[in-house]
Amino acid sequence: MTAQIIDGKALAEELRQGFKARVEALTAKGHKPGLVVILVGADPASEVYVRNKVNGCLTIGMHSEKITYEATVDQDTVLNKIAELNADPNIHGILVQLPLPKHFDEEKVLEAIAAEKDVDGFHAENVGALAQGNPRFIPCTPYGVMKMFEKGNVDLTGKEAVVIGRSNIVGKPMALLLINAGATVTVCNSRTKDLLSHTRRADILVAAVGKPKFVTADMVKPGAVVIDVGINRLPDGKLCGDVDYAGCLEVAGQITPVPGGVGPMTITMLLANTIEAAERKAGL
Ligand code: GUN
Repeated sequence: MTAQIIDGKALAEELRQGFKARVEALTAKGHKPGLVVILVGADPASEVYVRNKVNGCLTIGMHSEKITYEATVDQDTVLNKIAELNADPNIHGILVQLPLPKHFDEEKVLEAIAAEKDVDGFHAENVGALAQGNPRFIPCTPYGVMKMFEKGNVDLTGKEAVVIGRSNIVGKPMALLLINAGATVTVCNSRTKDLLSHTRRADILVAAVGKPKFVTADMVKPGAVVIDVGINRLPDGKLCGDVDYAGCLEVAGQITPVPGGVGPMTITMLLANTIEAAERKAGL
């Protein structure tokens, strides 16, 4: 059996087309949605992500700007800028690109962002709301994955879901969303003992481990839904996910490709969260 492909690129495009009318309506009422992305340092991958985030906003008529700092900038400079943006009525979303340089206290920076402008959903208040099953902002990557389940008509209720990866950005919020959707959830990591015994019983398998081709066909239950969150750069410059796509394609029931899978959905849901923030502020 060859798996059905869940096309994230097409779904992202479809959703972004739908956002345009909401952005126009907000703009007409004087609430043009605005996102600021803060980048500290010059990590090449982060630079690409940040550029795509800003361009994603501009393409659908939103306001967006990037603020960059040298890697050596002191934390207070960034905290002061965040305070200024918290008070700016034209800015609805503030995102600090992670990771930050080692001399930063990441938690302190994320907590400095006003919860109602935390379109990443990383502020403790928003993480708590998600954990309680009453989310205000859902972290963009797992939010995108949930939209892909919706698109693929994947019913999560009562299903065995296994997430490989326990990061604050993907693994943990993904697990919470699956729990909230009624799945039976196991969170593994790259060092989980007898990982195979977990993955092989997964109806839903989410790979967010950051290791190229970590999930091989023998780890996948026939017919399972396999979601590849990984974006790894191979020595030859090609992008590759955490899943051995060619092998798993023959075993899975549904699968997401890399590129063209989860990646385009992440930025799409960032746009969704920023529009949502603007709509709330406008009282819509
Ligand atoms: N670095 C990698 N993914 C993300 C993300 O979703 N948000 C932020 N702020 N930084 C990231």
